[in-house]
Amino acid sequence: MADVTIRTRESGPLVIEGPVKIVDASGNPFPIPEGKTFIALCRCGASANKPFCDGKHKTCGFVATETAPQQLG
Ligand code: FES
Repeated sequence: MADVTIRTRESGPLVIEGPVKIVDASGNPFPIPEGKTFIALCRCGASANKPFCDGKHKTCGFVATETAPQQLG
């Protein structure tokens, strides 16, 4: 099974890298262009193309700067 990574972008979307399927509340899949290697999901709420990011986070004032705890050792 291939690895999937979900990466937070500072004040931006959640970027999913790896093979995933995005489905709506009824289980119907959103079309994902063939060969696409990552998907950006909106977490600011301003996208006109939800659940996908359309870049509006850059102008809507969304701020998210959380980081993962540093691992020691
Ligand atoms: S995170 Fe990019 S439009 Fe919302």
